[in-house]
Amino acid sequence: MYSGNQLRDMFLKYFEAKGHKILPSASLIPKDDPTLLLTVAGMVPFKPYFQRRVEPPFPRATTAQKCVRTPDLEEVGKTARHHTYFEMLGNFSFGDYFKNEAIPWAWEYITEVLKIPVEKLWVTIYPEDDDAKKIWEKAGVKSERIIGDPENFWAAGPTGPCGPCSEIYVDLGEARGCNKPGCAMGCDCDRFLEIWNLVFMQYNRDEAGVLTPLPKQNIDTGMGLERIASVMQGVETNFDTDLFRPIIDHVANLAGVKYKNNPKNDLALKVVSDHVRAVSFMLADGIRPNNEGRGYVLRRILRRAVRYAKLLGIDKPFLESAFQVIQKDYSHAYPELKENENFILNHLNLEEKNFQATLEQGTQLLQDKVKELLKQGETVLAGPDAFYLYETYGFPVELTEEMLEEQGLTVDMVSFQTAAEEHRLRAKEQSQQMRAVVESPELMEKAKLLGRTPFVGYERLSATTRIEGLFVGGEEKQDVGEGEEVMVFLTETPFYAESGGQVSDRGVMRTSRAEARVLEVKKGVTGTLYHRAQVTTGVLHVGETVEAEIDLVERQATTRHHSATHLLQVALRSVLGEHVQQAGSLVSPERLRFDFTHFSALSTEGLRAVEGIINEAVLKNMPVAATEMPLKEAKLSGATALFGEKYGETVRVVNMGLFSKELCGGTHVKNTGEIGLVKILSEGGIGAGLRRIEAIAGIEALTYFRALDDQVMEVAQNLKAQPLEVGKRVHGLMTQVKDLEREISQLQAKLAKNEVEGLLKRVAEIDGIQVIAAAVHVSDMEGLRQMADLLRAKLKAGVIVLGATSEGKVNFVTVVSPTGLSGLHAGQIIKEVAKITGGSGGGRPDMAQAGGKDPSKLGEAIDRVPTIVRGFLKK
Ligand code: ALA
Repeated sequence: MYSGNQLRDMFLKYFEAKGHKILPSASLIPKDDPTLLLTVAGMVPFKPYFQRRVEPPFPRATTAQKCVRTPDLEEVGKTARHHTYFEMLGNFSFGDYFKNEAIPWAWEYITEVLKIPVEKLWVTIYPEDDDAKKIWEKAGVKSERIIGDPENFWAAGPTGPCGPCSEIYVDLGEARGCNKPGCAMGCDCDRFLEIWNLVFMQYNRDEAGVLTPLPKQNIDTGMGLERIASVMQGVETNFDTDLFRPIIDHVANLAGVKYKNNPKNDLALKVVSDHVRAVSFMLADGIRPNNEGRGYVLRRILRRAVRYAKLLGIDKPFLESAFQVIQKDYSHAYPELKENENFILNHLNLEEKNFQATLEQGTQLLQDKVKELLKQGETVLAGPDAFYLYETYGFPVELTEEMLEEQGLTVDMVSFQTAAEEHRLRAKEQSQQMRAVVESPELMEKAKLLGRTPFVGYERLSATTRIEGLFVGGEEKQDVGEGEEVMVFLTETPFYAESGGQVSDRGVMRTSRAEARVLEVKKGVTGTLYHRAQVTTGVLHVGETVEAEIDLVERQATTRHHSATHLLQVALRSVLGEHVQQAGSLVSPERLRFDFTHFSALSTEGLRAVEGIINEAVLKNMPVAATEMPLKEAKLSGATALFGEKYGETVRVVNMGLFSKELCGGTHVKNTGEIGLVKILSEGGIGAGLRRIEAIAGIEALTYFRALDDQVMEVAQNLKAQPLEVGKRVHGLMTQVKDLEREISQLQAKLAKNEVEGLLKRVAEIDGIQVIAAAVHVSDMEGLRQMADLLRAKLKAGVIVLGATSEGKVNFVTVVSPTGLSGLHAGQIIKEVAKITGGSGGGRPDMAQAGGKDPSKLGEAIDRVPTIVRGFLKK
């Protein structure tokens, strides 16, 4: 019997022998493909080859591709064959071979390599595809076993490469069928299993649904590994194959239940095992759980796994251990499960912990609600209630629907959507209000009246406009004089108000008789722009014409940094991966700051690569253009957008050649060349999974390099070296310093040894006890102790008191050896000695240390040692 791993290898090897290049599975995150959230088929990574947007580097390829499909999420576990995550085996021809080869190879593989009996096989074709029919017949399929099916036309999404297809089915026998009269090939039950789809990729479908022939004819095939494993292993469902059993058994074990004992438990076991696989592989590709796009798909699957585990009675965290089973079974074929282990585990554990806590509270709440509904004879949960569960307890609405379904209830989805939309608007308004200036009721009234202030500053740096209102301290004024700080409303303005991370413009306003400095510009809730200004000369009057002019130098610097931020975002994605998402930014005249999601520090090479890509994009001098369009259109065109933008809104899309396309209201250069040199200054972590890059562009980069240059020049001059040799020279100097240090410490050791020898010659004797007392040249306590130890080793029985000055203080060490000699105590002796230098100390009977304050008394203290020792002896 073949294992899942063997079946994967056999397939790839078979097609390798037929001239196909074996490629590793691509990421679950489709690359450069805004039409797809996730990789849904083996052909996804090859779309550019089929469309000839990219010249295929080889004519044939074969892969086992990781796929995730969620439209049938609800079916998972209920049927033998539905999954969220699965592997698709496929062979591909990029304008090379076509049906004449693809069909007989598939037939040969199924009947001669896998040896599935011909009597069990059926084939479907696109009804008009006579070619395919003939080729199947030639390959050995009986014509009554070839069935036309109008659904045999395959595409990965609404647009892109597509074509008629042809499928191979296995008849698993009557016993597996529904036994309804008329159950035959084509029946939806589990008896006839589609195992392989061969797509004859010949068309490209555009947004209007129009098919145009692709430049060349291609082949795309897909065989579900789990399905073929279930056939080859002769088991009832995909879940009974070796691709699933270890994980099912593990979960059953945790739950203390038996698989195949109770249909309800089996369903939950299948759901959990399917979902845990999906979640593991999605995380392994860097998808992180959040509330948008693929992150939301991941979160939803993960939460569903936790919830089904709970149905099985698993209340403790289990995802980590389940992941380990998957890692063990799959990391051989998919090393990313090992490589990204930390990322995977961090997210699994965090999500699980958070969800479990909220699940408990929310479930209770929902049960109460259900009871209430049932009592009133109702069957529909109100949308706002479902939204409350989502907002407060993180229940995906689909989860609520499922939980209700178990009790025959539903959710009112229309009012759910309304509640969600209202909430979003409120949140947006609140965050805007936070940003708005402190407003008096009078000022707010005025702002409401004026409404949105037209911004003319994308094109113009100054505008002749009119003063609509003047407010000082929230109070409306007709005129404002010199020195006063005032809030100015204008009819239109060239001043950019702080938003989207870009700081506001500054500049001046001039009337015929007055001038004011504009310090800051903010946007109010009503879209009215507030110019905070200080009158420098004359008096401003309401109704006057003003010349409003922004500070050009500052604006240009800010603009360069903003445009550089867009390039940075693209560069980060191409170096680190598509999971990189903007998490905040600050763009000012001085620099740019960009926060993004990523799980580890960037290497120096990584940073260099990012910097390189940005600067290359600058040098290409790509034109920058901004277009307004509905958000929906912008998203379809693949523009990068931050989460939270509203459908139906008109947005501004900023293109930089074909390199970058981003939703943005900020100001930008006209050509990327204007950005000038871009230099990354730093990269670091600012929170879990969040990183920050700071960079500078244009003149700021020049300033930076000049400062650096000055430093290097100065060092070079001091070293009398060439600037480019500074590094080498400093390195040399440091080695030299280390050598010198080593030499010094050797010399010191030698000196100490000499000193010790000198001291040994000056041993005094008091009542038969040897006493050494000396002020020595040792720089610290450690050295003093070492010297005392050396002396102790040479002395048979006696007392050692050493003192040394260091940094204006005195250190003492005393040793009594052997311990307890004539009742002497090192701690007591040193206390007396240290006292003389204004210090204190103490310690053990055999060894003690102390400090003193007055170095000038050291000599006296040492001289007193014999007297002190004698004193103790008498006691
Ligand atoms: N791309 C084809 C499928 O997914 C083979 O069925």
